[in-house]
Amino acid sequence: MPIETYRTIHLFAIMLLFTSIGGLALYVAAGGTKAANPHRTLVSALHGTAAFLVLLGGFGMLARLHVAFPFPLWIWIKLTIWTLLSVVIVLPYRKPDLAKPLFLAAPLLGLAAAWAAIFKPA
Ligand code: HEM
Repeated sequence: MPIETYRTIHLFAIMLLFTSIGGLALYVAAGGTKAANPHRTLVSALHGTAAFLVLLGGFGMLARLHVAFPFPLWIWIKLTIWTLLSVVIVLPYRKPDLAKPLFLAAPLLGLAAAWAAIFKPA
């Protein structure tokens, strides 16, 4: 697959990832609970699929860019952010007080990942 296809998958998956995190965080911040959430399965399925596709697109691009192990710093930054955005989906239900801060902080993690991709700190 050409790099453009991996980039398209990467960017679409990022949109799905933030849609699922933002939607859940706002639902819980507004007082919603896990038991009462009619879209519980949809949110976790969307988030899981998105996290996988971010990785698929990212590693696909790495292959096309001939970036191999040991990875440069910018990839470790992005992998750390990806891990955070992958596990953070459990936070709103476990710590509802952190749902609104997560809603505001998640885009900042996205900004950091975009910065790392564009400026590529070595
Ligand atoms: C959820 C976390 C992530 C976000 C928000 C994110 C965001 C982005 C953005 C906005 C771009 C720029 C796309 C463009 O220039 O058109 C990008 C490019 C890229 N990302 Fe990610 N990314 C994430 C995770 C990852 C991971 C985990 C990897 C590696 C496995 C990765 C590898 C790449 C590569 C290789 C590029 C292309 C850089 C280039 O064209 O020079 N990203 N990412």
